[in-house]
Amino acid sequence: MLAAGPLFAKGLIIRRPFVVRLLRRTGTEGKGVRLLARLRRKYGDGPLRLRLPLREQAVILSPRHLRRILAGTPEPFAAASREKQAALAHFQPEGVLVSEGGERAERRRFNEAVLESACPVHSLAPRLAARIEAETAPLRAAEQLGWPAFKRAWFRMVRQAIFGPSARDDERLTDTLEKLRADANWAFLKPRRERLRDRFLASVRERLAEAPPDSLGGLARARATAGSAPEHQIAHWLFAFDAAAIAGFRTLAMLALHPQAAARARESDEFRRACLLETLRLWPTTPAVLRETRAETQWEASALPAGTGLLIHLPFFHRDGSRIPYADRFVPDIWLDGRAEAWPFVPFSTGPAGCPARNLVLFLASAWIAALIRGRMPALPAGAGLDPAGLPATFDHFALRLKLAPLETSRAAGEEPARPASVDPSFQRSKTWLTNSRS
Ligand code: HEM
Repeated sequence: MLAAGPLFAKGLIIRRPFVVRLLRRTGTEGKGVRLLARLRRKYGDGPLRLRLPLREQAVILSPRHLRRILAGTPEPFAAASREKQAALAHFQPEGVLVSEGGERAERRRFNEAVLESACPVHSLAPRLAARIEAETAPLRAAEQLGWPAFKRAWFRMVRQAIFGPSARDDERLTDTLEKLRADANWAFLKPRRERLRDRFLASVRERLAEAPPDSLGGLARARATAGSAPEHQIAHWLFAFDAAAIAGFRTLAMLALHPQAAARARESDEFRRACLLETLRLWPTTPAVLRETRAETQWEASALPAGTGLLIHLPFFHRDGSRIPYADRFVPDIWLDGRAEAWPFVPFSTGPAGCPARNLVLFLASAWIAALIRGRMPALPAGAGLDPAGLPATFDHFALRLKLAPLETSRAAGEEPARPASVDPSFQRSKTWLTNSRS
C-alpha cells in the first residue's frame, strides 16, 4: 500500500538512511498522505478495511476514531499488536509496549514513576541540565554540525542520564542495541539473535546495578517492583532517545530556516518546546501507531472482528493539506494558541499508552537546543532543499550539515546572557506540557 509501504521500508524501529534518501527524492510519503485523503473523500470516515491475505486490517481516517482508539487502549484496543511484538522481541520482549494485562499495568506504572510523566520538570532536571551543558560544549565549538557528531554527543548525555557518568563512553552498549534494532526492522522476517540480545540485556542490568541515585537508573532501582522488568524498559528508553535526537536536530534546522523563531526560541523554553512539537508534527518519528482489537468493535460503517489490526498513520493526520491550511509550514504557535489541541496532532500519541517520556523528552531536547543556540545562529548550507513555504514530506537528516555561526559580536557580548541550559520560569507556569492526554 502506497501510504504504509514507506513506513515499513524506511524502518519502523531504526531508520535506513538509503531508503530515507530515496523517499525524499521520489516524494512517495507525500503521495501516501494524498492517497489517504482521496480515500477518505471517496469512502467517508472509515475505518477503511483492507483486503489482506493473512489478517483483518483497517486504516483510521477520522479524528474521532483516532481519539476513541487511543483513549480505549489497552482494552479493547491493544498496543501490543502482532507486528510490534515481533519487532520488539528482538531487543525488549518484556517492554511495556508489548506487554498485556497485569504485566502491562505494572510496567506502565514503573515507566511513569521513573520518567515522572505527570511532572513538567523531572526531579533530576538540574543534574541533567549540567550534563547537557558539558556535552554540547564541543558541538558549539565546531564549525559544522552534522548528524553523526550530534547523535554521538546526545547519546553521551543519555547514557549518563540513565546510568551515571561511568557510562558516558560506553558506545558498545548503544552500538549493540543498534544492531538489534536493525534486526527488529524485519520483525518476523529475521531470526532473533537471542545470544546477542541476552548479552545486551545483561549489560543493561549490570549498568543498572551501579547507577548512582541521581540518575534515571538509580530511580529505576528504587521504584521497581516484581514484574517491572527494568532492563527491558530501559532498552526501550535507549531506543527511543534516538527519536528525541532526530527531533532535536531537525528542530535546529527549522530554526535555521526561520530566524524569527530562532530569536524567540533563544528567550523562551515554552516556545522551544512548541518548536520541537511542531517539528514532530511535520515529521513524526513514530509515524505508524498500531493497535489490535481484542474484541469485536462497532463503528458507524460496520463491525470490526476481534484481532483486527488498526493503523493510525500520523503523517496523514498531521499533513493533510486538504484539511490543514498550514500543513506543510512550520507554525510552532499552533502549540501555544489552542490550534494543536483542536485537531489530533499526536506525535507522542496520547491516552493510557501515550508516551510516558513526553515531558522528559521536551525538557532534555529543549535544554539541548538552548545550549546550542545561545549566542549562535544555526544556518543551513545552500541547496539544503528545505522550502519554508512547502516543507517536504520526508526529512533526510542523515545528510544535513548545519553551521552554528556566532551572532554579531555586539549582540553576542551584550544582549545574549550566557544563561546555562535550565528550566525557564515561563515554562513552569505553563500547563501546556503537563499532560499528554489533551487530544
Ligand atoms: C521524540 C521522541 C519521542 C517520541 C516522538 C515518542 C513517541 C511515542 C509514541 C507515539 C508512543 C506510542 C507508540 C504506540 O502506541 O505504538 C510512545 C510510546 C512510548 N514511549 Fe515514547 N517517544 C519519544 C521518546 C521516548 C523516550 C526518550 C522514552 C524513554 C525515555 C520513551 C518511552 C516510551 C514508552 C515506554 C512507550 C510505551 C508506552 C506504553 O505502551 O504504555 N519515548 N512514544
